[in-house]
Amino acid sequence: MKIKKVCVIGGGLMGRQIALNTAIYSYEVTLTDSNPDVHDAVAKWEEEYLAGRIAKGRMTEEQVAGIKSRFHIVSTLEEAAKDADLVIEAIVEVEDIKRELFRKLSALTREDTIIATNSSRMCASLFKDEVKNPARFANLHYFNPALVMKLTEVVQGEHCSSETAETLMEFSRSTGKTPVLLKREIEGFIANRLLNALKNEARYLVENGYCTIEDVDTASENGLGHPMGPFRLEDLTGIDLTYNIMMRTYEKTGEKPIGFELVKSYYDKGFYGKKNGRGYYDYSQKK
Ligand code: NAI
Repeated sequence: MKIKKVCVIGGGLMGRQIALNTAIYSYEVTLTDSNPDVHDAVAKWEEEYLAGRIAKGRMTEEQVAGIKSRFHIVSTLEEAAKDADLVIEAIVEVEDIKRELFRKLSALTREDTIIATNSSRMCASLFKDEVKNPARFANLHYFNPALVMKLTEVVQGEHCSSETAETLMEFSRSTGKTPVLLKREIEGFIANRLLNALKNEARYLVENGYCTIEDVDTASENGLGHPMGPFRLEDLTGIDLTYNIMMRTYEKTGEKPIGFELVKSYYDKGFYGKKNGRGYYDYSQKK
């Protein structure tokens, strides 16, 4: 099956970048969001981003005109999903809201339309009963910033056909991405599982007094060649975010995740990371 028209639902951090990246690679794209304010915000962001590409000499006026003509921000789900060959869901990470959306999408799309979720945590099989054709339903997971990061993860649950998985792999390649295929579903997929394993070990070493935060980052950067050690990276993504995720796990399982006390000690002091000047490292003196 040849994908021609792509619909992206959700115009937040991820959805807008996935949509624009897709339009850059010559696909017709419709994007919608349940919050009308987001439509204006995406239009403004698109305008600024593309103007920046021209200013930097990365795109010509002609290329930008082409991208704009293919990128359509529309007000309703009906309009967005109409005639779509592929729908990429990138809305809030809330199970019930996603469930409701898949139900609606299923009614609005063709039997052979592929529906993909960009969820960073939830596997497609969780929602397979909401769609009319589970064989054409999968995870297609992008990384932030989606306009830049090359990796996508395609997850083929038991309900999903190999043809669908292969179509998503091919679609990813055709939009400048390097996809990997998971032949079985597993939460966290590949890259985030690897990262979590590293973060867990890093916290374990520090919490148990084997070494300092700085030592872990130095080892990771200088010994493993990682561009940024796990603590420096967490200062960017936000210690508050990590704490909230850990807290949810704790509440759900009754077990404290590895490194919980270490993360909590920074969270309790209000050290959230680079965004407020102090995380594992002090950024207050640097601009
Ligand atoms: P975000 O909060 O920036 O954007 C979500 C958007 O969905 C909002 O604009 C909201 O108005 C819209 N929305 C909510 N309910 C809707 C509905 N029923 N219909 C249409 N639009 C609706 O979230 P973000 O960060 O873009 O994440 C979106 C998805 O991408 C989540 O599933 C997340 O797990 C996943 N993801 C996030 C990454 C990240 O680094 N932020 C990385 C990879 C995946």
